[in-house]
Amino acid sequence: MQKHPSSLIDLKSLTRHQILSLFSRAQELKTQPGGLDYRGQTAALIFFEPSTRTRFSFETALARCGFHPLVLDLPEGTSLEKGETEEDTVLNLAAMDPRLIIVRSSDAFPLSKVVSQVSCPVINAGWGTQGHPTQALLDGYTLFQEFNELQSLKILFVGDIKHSRVVASHFELLDKMGAEVGQCGPSQFMVDRPGTHLFRRLEEGLEWCDAVMALRFQFERHGQGLEFSKEDYRLSYGLTRSALRHLRPGGVMMHPGPVNYGIEIDAEVLTDSRNRILKQVHHGVFIREALIRTLLEGRL
Ligand code: CP
Repeated sequence: MQKHPSSLIDLKSLTRHQILSLFSRAQELKTQPGGLDYRGQTAALIFFEPSTRTRFSFETALARCGFHPLVLDLPEGTSLEKGETEEDTVLNLAAMDPRLIIVRSSDAFPLSKVVSQVSCPVINAGWGTQGHPTQALLDGYTLFQEFNELQSLKILFVGDIKHSRVVASHFELLDKMGAEVGQCGPSQFMVDRPGTHLFRRLEEGLEWCDAVMALRFQFERHGQGLEFSKEDYRLSYGLTRSALRHLRPGGVMMHPGPVNYGIEIDAEVLTDSRNRILKQVHHGVFIREALIRTLLEGRL
């Protein structure tokens, strides 16, 4: 078998033009259904790690294209329970000739190797800390809808930038689109990246940016190895009503989800008119549908 040329593992190979075309196609699909062109065909959705938004928005996007999804999202009832590896699991599902494989996995999963072993396109639906390209695309589309342009837009990421696969993909996307990136959070979570603005105080970052994206505080990853408590974190870096006074009235507040309320965002600010968190989720369906269609047409 040969590597399919249209797999989407990261955003490095996409051009600015291709990204803008995806935004435009998502916009069309949002207003007008694209048709059940793939009726009678299968697509494999393989989630070795938990997911709500990505899994169900891909499933919705596949349904809008007419696909029958083959979903594996729990080890129970599969041969993973008998010791079959994740790699073998994907190769066996690929042998059933789906048109597309969508996979979420840990860093340990050999995604690049698997992509080279299957004959259909593979989409990365979140790969450990390495990338989450469709999240960055849907966030980019959300920003594009708000501001009509990403060039020179100032985006502030707040939180664990070092371990965020969302930010890893945003660095690829936003550089290409000419946006400016800021980071704010505990020093152990910051990255050394030329051209990125570093803000020690959240208020300064919020005054600088057009859009703020809070990141999930990843308890499961850090365990006891943190230099601060959750309450310290909230007081310094949480999007509270008081902190959001520093975000300009036309700015927007985002979060890729899932949200830990009372830590990175206070529940009471969800009613803030600048909140776009559920709008991001809504857009996830259309950007993923646009991606699936464009990729299967061989235009990516
Ligand atoms: N944003 C995101 O990837 O959410 P899920 O983990 O719920 O898919």
